[in-house]
Amino acid sequence: MRVDEIRKICVLGCGSMGSQIALNAAIHGFAVKNMDIKEEMVARARAFAAEYLPGRVAKGRLTEAEAQGAARNLSFTTDLAEAAGDADFVIEAVLERLDLKRQVFRNLDRVAPPHAVLATNSSFIVSSRIAGVTGRPDKVVNMHFFNPALVMELVEVVQGPHTSDETAALTMDLARKMGKTPVLLRKEVYGFLVNRILAALVKEALWLAEMEVASVEDIDTAVTKALGHPMGPFRLMDLTGIDLHYDIAMERYRETGRAEDKPSPLVVEKITRGEFGRKTGKGWYSYAE
Ligand code: CAA
Repeated sequence: MRVDEIRKICVLGCGSMGSQIALNAAIHGFAVKNMDIKEEMVARARAFAAEYLPGRVAKGRLTEAEAQGAARNLSFTTDLAEAAGDADFVIEAVLERLDLKRQVFRNLDRVAPPHAVLATNSSFIVSSRIAGVTGRPDKVVNMHFFNPALVMELVEVVQGPHTSDETAALTMDLARKMGKTPVLLRKEVYGFLVNRILAALVKEALWLAEMEVASVEDIDTAVTKALGHPMGPFRLMDLTGIDLHYDIAMERYRETGRAEDKPSPLVVEKITRGEFGRKTGKGWYSYAE
């Protein structure tokens, strides 16, 4: 399949990543079905698109016609067969749990057309841990977007040993057609490029906070003002979700059993309190309405 033969994209998961990937694809001219098993997640994604598109017009970033076209391109469902039944390319963005992803790919393989590529947006689960549950491992690949997916330009494409060169090249081309800058990883490696680098930064930041060397605010200020990052590691965790950070750390810890991979006690405290970041109104910072 060539990239100009991709017309229909299915995005699984209406969370912050899934909904923005879907909307981004719709803005770039693809017919997109965004699916979630939870009605309330679908409603939230629908409401986000309904608010975002007019906002882009008001800001002069999209024309009225472009926004209307994007809205027409985007539809929502809670039914997997309806979402993926006619898709040329599927991007899975469900929760970061390996057993869940394997179940989703098993079901997807049954309902998606044989030519469809099945990509996972996982931040750290390499597709070779998923491809085996499908009858098309050559068409299974990592396609990793960054948060907020409508804004961040990078997409990591990770070619597993099972992924064909054609699938990797097609995924790179699709990312470009979605307005992104893709990079290709020719080997599967834990954390890919960006999260390996980011994890080192976050680990140091958490250690400094845990040791009460400086406040969360001052550590963020140090990173923004000295290193030029748009936001510090704590504010970034609030954006991407402290729960996601915890899930990733726990999955890694289960795998390695190494004490240094355990989530920081400060993070565990946040999880216990249900303070996951922006989405709960409180994380390292407060986000009162
Ligand atoms: N959703 C959609 N668009 C958003 C947004 C959001 N949540 N937040 C900001 N934007 C858009 C704004 O609409 C604005 O767009 P225009 O300029 O085109 O009008 C633009 O982003 C800039 O926004 P603001 O001026 O309001 O704010 P800012 O300049 O502070 O930028 C930011 C906000 C883009 C989030 C910026 O702070 C940033 O780049 N932060 C770092 C984000 C980052 O590092 N992401 C990677 C996370 S790691 C990850 O994702 C890995 C993983 O596996 C989970």
